[in-house]
Amino acid sequence: MMNIILLGPPGAGKGTQAARLQANRGMIQLSTGDMLREAVAAGTPVGLKAKEVMARGELVSDAIVSALIGERLDASADKGAIFDGFPRTKHQAAALEILLAERGRRLDYVIELAVDEDELVKRITGRFTCAACGAGYHDAFRPTKTPGVCDNCGSTEFKRRPDDNEQTVRTRMAEYRAKTQPILPYYEAKGLVRRVDGMQSVDDVAAQIDAILDGQTL
Ligand code: AP5
Ligand code: MG
Ligand code: ZN
Repeated sequence: MMNIILLGPPGAGKGTQAARLQANRGMIQLSTGDMLREAVAAGTPVGLKAKEVMARGELVSDAIVSALIGERLDASADKGAIFDGFPRTKHQAAALEILLAERGRRLDYVIELAVDEDELVKRITGRFTCAACGAGYHDAFRPTKTPGVCDNCGSTEFKRRPDDNEQTVRTRMAEYRAKTQPILPYYEAKGLVRRVDGMQSVDDVAAQIDAILDGQTL
């Protein structure tokens, strides 16, 4: 049972790779972005607090996201966790360490998805998901096989994220550089960081991640 972090800027492919690892290895994807979007959609107190912050592309408070992870962590105890979009600050990294230690669990790898920022804007502004099953697509890079029909479930309803516009993406990237990138040295000091070339195709990135998790060197 492994616990891994997928670390990378908006659009790096964290969600795409986490969903694949969940499908292929039975690990559990823990995406704070998805949890927050669910809270916003459900109109919970957390959702009401997070909605405007997310729309601006800024980070939601450490206390809120750490609590969300804490609530969901035990469900991944037997299968292992893929942290997608968490931790994003030094405070969150410290909170995660405590949450795992309290449960006798530990981190195996921090996989850094390295990508070029101009590419990210293209990826994010073309992204859409199936409204029924959540499968992820992209207008240019990963279209549905039949236009307008989900490959996975056949639904014809799709949605786009309100924060997926160029202006908000720039703020999200600035937040990443200012607050999230500085946690890398913390994990480097622990020898946990593995860097993956996130500019490759989805399948090639997946192969790089599989090699790390299987303990191979490419
Ligand atoms: P979150 O939902 O985590 O968004 P993000 O970090 O901005 O990352 P994205 O989900 O946009 O990108 P991704 O890396 O998952 O890429 P994807 O696989 O979709 O957070 C949203 C907001 O919530 C934050 O701004 C913040 O407000 C709040 N929040 C969340 N967590 C928080 C936390 N811990 N603390 C505080 N606030 C928090 O891929 C993108 C597109 O590219 C897709 O269309 C995909 O099909 C395509 N694609 C993927 N891989 C490739 C490839 N290799 N080649 C070509 N196309 C590809
Ligand atoms: Mg994502
Ligand atoms: Zn679907």
